Amino acid sequence: MQRIAARTAWTIAGLLLLFVLIQGFVWHAAYRGAVGLSGDPTAIERLTGPRGSIVALFAHMVTGALVTTLSVIQLAGPIRRRWPRLHRNSGRLLAVAALLTGIGGLVYIARSGTVGGTDMSAAFGLYGVLMIIAAIQTPRLAMHRDYDRHRRWGLRLIILGLGSWFYRLHYGLWFGITCSLGDATCGMGVQSDFSGLFDRIQVWAFYLPYLLVLEWWLRRRPQPVRR
Ligand code: HEM
Repeated sequence: MQRIAARTAWTIAGLLLLFVLIQGFVWHAAYRGAVGLSGDPTAIERLTGPRGSIVALFAHMVTGALVTTLSVIQLAGPIRRRWPRLHRNSGRLLAVAALLTGIGGLVYIARSGTVGGTDMSAAFGLYGVLMIIAAIQTPRLAMHRDYDRHRRWGLRLIILGLGSWFYRLHYGLWFGITCSLGDATCGMGVQSDFSGLFDRIQVWAFYLPYLLVLEWWLRRRPQPVRR
């Protein structure tokens, strides 16, 4: 009993820490998206292409901020168990926001490409497609009361929902490590046009390895699902 209470306390502490850590990115995304949607041209920075695709990208930033936040909330087992209605409603909101985020990102890629070229467009394109699939599968399986598969797809959606934050986190950690080693190594493999080795690895590494680890974990720990 004591061990379960300690585990719950650690889980809550971990989730609170994660919630705090994502805030900087969440507010950046929501703010830039909202400023862009208000018509302020300063938010465009280096985005290019037709106006419609830039608007779609700004909208994806706002819905993406919601996706990142709700991913942490959906991950919280204690909330899920204690307030199932909250879990269901925030899950619905997450699915809709993830669908819109994926669509917004894909519209931009299709019409404007990306700053990193073909590699980045392919990697972000796959990211968007996977997010859309997970956003459809998760609520669909819950509606069919297939809770085991619902849980699996829900976890995939959460990993994808946190992916954009992982992307920025990886860069932050990389600069932290390489710059602490000296000026010569600071930002090694990073280029402003995203053509550096680190950039080229990152376009895939912010979601694929996490998804692979999740698949491995799901196969090792098939869990009966409690409603
Ligand atoms: C998970 C939630 C997401 C959030 C919070 C988010 C946020 C952002 C933000 C804030 C930017 C502007 C760059 C910056 O200011 O840092 C951006 C750019 C972009 N995002 Fe997302 N995003 C999310 C998901 C996605 C998805 C699923 C896709 C794929 C379809 C996508 C595709 C893009 C593309 C293509 C760009 C522009 C890259 C360029 O500069 O060429 N994002 N995103």
